[in-house]
Amino acid sequence: MAASALRTVPVSDLTLDQAKAEHDALAAEIRHHRDLYYRKDAPEISDAEYDALERRLNEVEARFPELVTEDSPTQTVGAAPSAGFRKVRHAVPMLSLGNAFAAEDVDGFVDQIVRFLNMKSVDGLEFVAEPKIDGLSLSIRYENGELVQAATRGDGTEGEDVTANVRTIAEIPNKLNGPAPALLDVRGEVYMDRSDFFALNQRQAEAGEKVFANPRNAAAGSLRQLDPKITAKRPLRFFAYTWGELSEPLGATQWECLERLKALGFQVTAQSTLCRSRDELLDYYARIGAERPSLPFDIDGVVYKVNRLDLQERLGFRTRTPRWATAHKFPAEQARTILRKISIQVGRTGALTPVAELEPITVGGVVVSRATLHNEDEIARKDVREGDTVIVQRAGDVIPQIVATVAEARPADAQPYVFPDHCPECGSVAVREEGGAVRRCTGGLVCPAQAVERLRHFVGRDAFDIEGLGIERIQLFFEQDRIRQPADIFTLERREEQRIDRLVSMTGFGRKSVENLFRAIDARRRIPLDRFIFALGIRQVGEATAKLLARAYRTVEHWTERMEQAAAERAANPEEMKKPELVGEAYAELCAIEQIGISVADDICDFFAETHNREALANLLRELEAVEEYVPPRAAAGSPIAGKTVVFTGTLTTMGRSEAKARAESLGAKVSGSVSAKTDFVIIGADAGSKAAKAQELGLRMMSEEEWLAFIGG
Ligand code: IVH
Repeated sequence: MAASALRTVPVSDLTLDQAKAEHDALAAEIRHHRDLYYRKDAPEISDAEYDALERRLNEVEARFPELVTEDSPTQTVGAAPSAGFRKVRHAVPMLSLGNAFAAEDVDGFVDQIVRFLNMKSVDGLEFVAEPKIDGLSLSIRYENGELVQAATRGDGTEGEDVTANVRTIAEIPNKLNGPAPALLDVRGEVYMDRSDFFALNQRQAEAGEKVFANPRNAAAGSLRQLDPKITAKRPLRFFAYTWGELSEPLGATQWECLERLKALGFQVTAQSTLCRSRDELLDYYARIGAERPSLPFDIDGVVYKVNRLDLQERLGFRTRTPRWATAHKFPAEQARTILRKISIQVGRTGALTPVAELEPITVGGVVVSRATLHNEDEIARKDVREGDTVIVQRAGDVIPQIVATVAEARPADAQPYVFPDHCPECGSVAVREEGGAVRRCTGGLVCPAQAVERLRHFVGRDAFDIEGLGIERIQLFFEQDRIRQPADIFTLERREEQRIDRLVSMTGFGRKSVENLFRAIDARRRIPLDRFIFALGIRQVGEATAKLLARAYRTVEHWTERMEQAAAERAANPEEMKKPELVGEAYAELCAIEQIGISVADDICDFFAETHNREALANLLRELEAVEEYVPPRAAAGSPIAGKTVVFTGTLTTMGRSEAKARAESLGAKVSGSVSAKTDFVIIGADAGSKAAKAQELGLRMMSEEEWLAFIGG
C-alpha cells in the first residue's frame, strides 16, 4: 500500500513497517508545506489540511515512539526549526553571562572589577543581585510605545522572529504604559511557573500529546510554535531585566532601569536587591538558595550586575560576556530521604525497570516520592539498598534521580539488592539480553503488563488481521477479562454464546456486529504458518524471520517440537551459547537457517523455555490450524484466470483482501481496484457496493466468493 493510501487506516491498525513508511512520507510533506508557508509565503494547502497532517504524524508517533527522530516535524514544532521562522538580526547582540560556582569565583569577579576600574577597594561599588530565571531570553522591540517585533536569542547575533507568538503572552504589553523612548528593545526571560507547567503536562498527556521534561523546555517549545494559536493557550510569562538598542536611557543605574521597566508595564522579579559588598552578594545567594524551592518558578542561580551604567560602560565586554555581570549558579537541587522499597515496573515491551519508592520529600519545590534507578547495573554500581538514606536530585527534570546513598546512615540489617529474575507481574522468567543492561520478561503471551500490546500485535494487519477486532476492542475485551491471551479470541463465542445479550450490552456493540465479529474470527481458524509465527510476537521475529522459519519447518507441529527441543538444549548447555553445534542438534539446526543468528535463536528459545508461553501456544493450537505456507504453482499456464483482470469487492470471508489478491496473481491474473469494460471477473463479497452495481451495468462476469474458489480450484 502506498504511504498516502495508509492515511485512511486508523493509526491503531498500522504495523510498524507501515507506520514507518507513513511517518517518512508525512514528515517530508509537512516540511514541504512549512517551507512553502514560512519561507516562500505561498502555501498550497489550507491551514486545516496542514493541521490534519501534523495531527496524523502526532498520532503515529504517539503509538510508535521509536519513530520519533530529532528532526521530526513534531520535535521542531515544539521547538520549530529556525527555517520555520524568519531570521532577525539583533541591533545589539544578545550575549550571555560568565559563571561563578564557588565563593572564590565571586571574589574573582569582584576583584577584577575593582582592578579594572582602578579602585582601592570594593567600597562605594554597588551591585544589583537578581534571580537567574531558567527560561529563554527574548528581545522585544517597541517603536513609539508599540510592540513591533520580538525575537529569540538564536546564536546571539541572529534570532527567530516570534512576534506573532509573543503578542499572545498576557504579561508582555503590546503597548507601553505612559511616555516611553521612541525606540526601546526590552530584554528578559520567557518562562513558565512550575504549577502551570505541571497542569500543562497533564493536559498534554491526557490528549496523547508530547509532555515536556521541565518548565524551561515547555516554555521554549510553547514560544517556538509555528501556530500562534497554540502559543496563546500556553501559560507563558515574562520577566524584563535588561535592554538592547534604545533611543534614550531608561535611567542611570540598573536599579532605576528596572523601576522604569516596571512602570512601562513589565514584570520584574520581586527578589532583586542592591548589594554593597562581596559578603552581601554571598548572603543574597544563600537567601535565594533557601527560597528557591518555594519560588513559583525555576531558577538556576543568581545574577550580579554592577549597578551604575557608566561603570558598566567602562567595564565593557569580553568576547561573549560582560565584565560587569556574572551568574552565580546553584547546584542541582538535592534532598535526603529514606528509600523504603525498590519496586519493579514492567513496561509494554517486557522491560523490568527498578523504581525507588521514597519517603516523600520536597526537592526544589516539588514533592518527590519515587525516583528512577534505571537498571540492574545502576543499582549494583551505587549499591543502593532498601532502607538506605539516599540523596535525591532534581536536575531541572521531572523524573528525579538517586545520586548516592549515605553510607553512615545505612541500617545494620540492610541487604544488597537482588534484582528479580522473574517477572513480578506474571511470574515468567526474566532474562537479560547479552550486552544489554535491561532484563526482560519472557512471558509475552501471558504477562498482563504486555498482554494488550501482544494482543494488539496478534490481531494486526500482517498477523491475524481479524476484521472488527482493532486495538480499542481488544483493550475493552481485555479490561472486561474476556480476552486475556490469544486463544481467548477463539473461545469467545463459545464462552459468550449463552449470554450474548450481556455481551451486547456490556460492550456497546450491536448484536449484528458481535455476530460479524464471530464470523471474522472463524475465518481465521486457518492461517498460513508464517503469519501464525509472526503473530506470536517473539522478540526479533518479524515477518521476514517468520517466513524463514515457516519455510524451514513446514508444519506448526514440527516447528513447535523443534523449538521446544532447542530451548531445552540451550537450557542444559547455557555456556555453549557461542557454539550452536555444542548446544545441541535442534539448536544448531535453528542457527543454521540462513539469516537467523544466535541472538534471534536465543530469543526464540527464551520464548519456548517459558512454560506460560508453551501453554498459551497449546491453547491456541487447539482452536485453529496453522497451514503450510501457500506455495504458488510453478507456472500459471493452464490456470483459468491467466492473463485476466479481476476485481474484488465487498468483504471476503475465507481470506483477507491481500491473500485473495496474492492468490489470483499467482495464478496469472491481474488484480485491479476498479471496474471497467476491460474487467473479466468481479468477485462479490458481503456488502458489496457501487462496484457490483457497475459490473452489473457493464454486463461483466460476476461470481460469489464460493463460486470463485471453485473456479480457481481452491
Ligand atoms: S542579564 C549581557 N539577568 O541567563 C547579559 N540574564 O546565562 C544579559 N538570565 O542569556 C543577561 N535571568 O537568558 C540576565 N536576571 C537575569 C537573568 C538572565 C536569566 C539568562 C539569560 C541569559 C542567560 C545567561
